[in-house]
Amino acid sequence: MRDFYPEDMAVRNTIFEAWMNTARMFGFAQYDSCVVESLDLLKRKAGEEIVEQIYSFTDKSGRELALRPEMTPTLARMIAAKQGSLTFPLKWFTIAQCFRYERMSRGRKREHYQWNMDIIGEESASAEAEVVAAGIEALFSLGFNKADFQVHFSSRALLSDLLTSLGVEQQYHQNAFLALDKHGKISDAEISEMLTESAVDKNNISKIFNLLTVSSLNDAADILGKQTPSIQNINLFMALLSSYNLADVMKFDIAVVRGLAYYTGIVFEAFDTMKEFRAIFGGGRYDNLLKDVGGQPASGVGLGFGDVVVSELMENKNKIQVNTTSPTLAIGYMEDEQRSTAMTITAAIRSTSSPVDLATHSESAKTFFSRANKGGFNKAIYVGPDDVASGKIRIKDMITRTEQEQNITDIVLH
Ligand code: HAM
Repeated sequence: MRDFYPEDMAVRNTIFEAWMNTARMFGFAQYDSCVVESLDLLKRKAGEEIVEQIYSFTDKSGRELALRPEMTPTLARMIAAKQGSLTFPLKWFTIAQCFRYERMSRGRKREHYQWNMDIIGEESASAEAEVVAAGIEALFSLGFNKADFQVHFSSRALLSDLLTSLGVEQQYHQNAFLALDKHGKISDAEISEMLTESAVDKNNISKIFNLLTVSSLNDAADILGKQTPSIQNINLFMALLSSYNLADVMKFDIAVVRGLAYYTGIVFEAFDTMKEFRAIFGGGRYDNLLKDVGGQPASGVGLGFGDVVVSELMENKNKIQVNTTSPTLAIGYMEDEQRSTAMTITAAIRSTSSPVDLATHSESAKTFFSRANKGGFNKAIYVGPDDVASGKIRIKDMITRTEQEQNITDIVLH
C-alpha cells in the first residue's frame, strides 16, 4: 500500500483536480461509496483476473466482504437500488480508492485511485464518444498533447460477429475475449491452453488467433462481407470524435478486448505513444451489468483512469507542474510577548483568503529567516518588541531581499 508524503500529495492533488474539473466541464455529477463491498457483488464470473485479485475478509458477523478492486459493480448496485427515481441517461463520476492483490510492477500497485466516468441509459455511441473525449481532455489539462498518447479501441460486438462468421459458436465468445485480452501478456501456448480448458475446439483456437491479424475496419468488413451494425456503430463513434477534433488520436486495434467480463460493445484503452507504459485509462460499453445486479436492463458506458500510470508518465515527460496551495507568507516573532500581535496580523491576512504559516513558538530572527528561506516562502514578517511599540512591521520579500514597511493597523483593518 502507498504512503503519500506532502510532495506526493501535491502530485496526487494536481491529478485529482484535473479529473474533477474535467468531470464538471462535461456535466457529470459526483457520487461516492464505501471502499468495503459485499464480496458477492464483486465476484461475478470466474476467469477474470480481477476476481483472483480481490482482498476479501470475513467480518465479526460472518459476512463475506472485500476491499473493492473497481467501482463499476458498486455503481451498478447504487443505480439499481434507485433506478425508478433516477433520470436517464445519467452521467456520474467518482474518484475511488481501489485495491487489487496484483504482482507489483511499473504502473501496477496494490492500491490505486481511479477516476470513473459513466453514462447509464444511453444506447448510442455518443456515450462512448463523450466518455473518451473526457479522458482525453483530462490528459490535455495535465499537460499532455496529441503526440504523447493514443486511444486504442475495438468492439466486442464486432469481435463476436467475426467469431460467428468464422464458425466459433456464441457460447465460446466470452472465453475467447478473456483469452484474447491476454495476448502479448502471456505466451500463445498458455492462451491456447486457456481456450482448451474452456472446451473451445482446436480448429476454433487457430481461428481465434487469426482474428488478431485483422488490422482495419475494412479488413473486418471484408471478412463479414457487409457493414454490420457493429461496424456502423464504430463509424458513428469515430464521426462523433472527429466533431471534437479527436479522431486523430484514435487507433483501431483488434487486440484491445479488455479483461473484464461485463463489456459487450466498444472497448478502449489509452496508451503513451511508444506503448512503454501500461494503459492510462480503459473502459467500454456494458449492456448487462445493471440486470445482473438485480436492476432493470440498462446499458452503460464508462472509463476508469488510474493515478499511477499517469503520474509515472508525467514524471517521464517532465509534465509535473504541481499546483500548490501552501502559504507563501511566513510570520514569526521574537518573544512570547509578541505572539498575540503576530496572531492578530495573521488572522487579518488569512481573512483575505491569503494563506499564512504562523510560527508555533518564538525564535531568533536568524532562525526564523533561515527557516523561511528553506521553506520556500516568498514573503516573511518577523515581529519584535520594537515593531509592537512602533505599530509598524516590515514585510520582507524573500526573493528580491527588499523590505516594505506597513502600519499594523492598516493590515488589521485592511
Ligand atoms: P481497469 O482497466 O481494470 O478498468 O482499470 C482502469 C484503470 O485503472 C487502468 O487503466 C489503470 O489506469 C488503473 N489501474 C487498474 N489497476 C491498477 C493497479 N493495480 N495499479 C494502478 N493502477 C491501476 C476498470 O476497473 C473498469 N471498472 C473501468 C470502467 C468504468 N469501465 C466502465 N466504467
